[in-house]
Amino acid sequence: MIAPHPIRLLPQEFQLLSAFIYAQCGINITPQKKVLVETRLQKRLKSLSMESFKQYYNYLTSPRGLDEELFHMIDAISTNKTDFFRESVHFDFIVNTVLKKFTETTGNVRPFYAWSAACSSGEEPYTLAMVLENYRTTYWNFDYSILATDISMKALRQGVAAIYPFTRANDIPAHLRSKYLLKSKDKEKPTIKIVPELRKKVTFQRLNLMDNVYQVSNHFDVIFCRNLLIYFDRKTQENVLRKLLVKLPTDGYLFIGHSESLHGLDLPLKSVQPTIYVKV
Ligand SMILES: C[S@@+](CC[C@H](N)C(=O)[O-])C[C@H]1O[C@@H](n2cnc3c(N)ncnc32)[C@H](O)[C@@H]1O
Repeated sequence: MIAPHPIRLLPQEFQLLSAFIYAQCGINITPQKKVLVETRLQKRLKSLSMESFKQYYNYLTSPRGLDEELFHMIDAISTNKTDFFRESVHFDFIVNTVLKKFTETTGNVRPFYAWSAACSSGEEPYTLAMVLENYRTTYWNFDYSILATDISMKALRQGVAAIYPFTRANDIPAHLRSKYLLKSKDKEKPTIKIVPELRKKVTFQRLNLMDNVYQVSNHFDVIFCRNLLIYFDRKTQENVLRKLLVKLPTDGYLFIGHSESLHGLDLPLKSVQPTIYVKV
């Protein structure tokens, strides 16, 4: 017999699940988030016709569950909130400082490499693409490439599709909107799509920042790791940042979210302005 829904998450089941989530994706789920986890995972239990969270946990941690359910669990619990031009001072800094310095020091003889290391549904890497493509109109020999990674397959699929509700375009400056967005003709459910020139500059790849080694190129001029560190405890933050810094050469820039802080962490970084760091 199938249990009536909603099924309750018992305290000991919450402990098992939160320890598993911490080990798999570094996210520290405090007891205050119990109801949130319960609500989000109830949908998974329902679609798997399961009768308890214990049954779900046993499946999730079995070889088959790790293969088939882990992705769904991560999609259900992760917070993918993002926007185009979120924390826009970062993009002003890229244009006014980073790109200027890049052109002066390299003469644009090689491409500029950017990594959006928790890219969610793509708004962050496409914002970078708009800014970099626009810079290219001034320097014909400038080229760039963007890597966009996330743990969530659902978010990555949205990024690859590059289709967003029309209202999201409000965050994009008008001169970039007209150049880099295609508008749907659907009047009922209007959407925007990122133009092909920009889409081909962004490569989406699944990467769990809890992995021991990051399987990405060794050289980025800028790394964005914004609005994820806040979900990690101090030890995980430091581990993740150390691994990211392996991919950032001296003088490369790291951007973190506005509610995050690296205060007290022993890392080879110098603060340039709040939430922007240069590797030393
Ligand atoms: C709140 S969003 C931030 C998106 C974007 N960086 C921004 O600032 O708008 C956090 C993202 O981190 C991703 N994430 C969570 N744990 C992760 C992990 N262990 N490795 C990689 N990405 C992770 C989530 O899937 C989510 O898309």
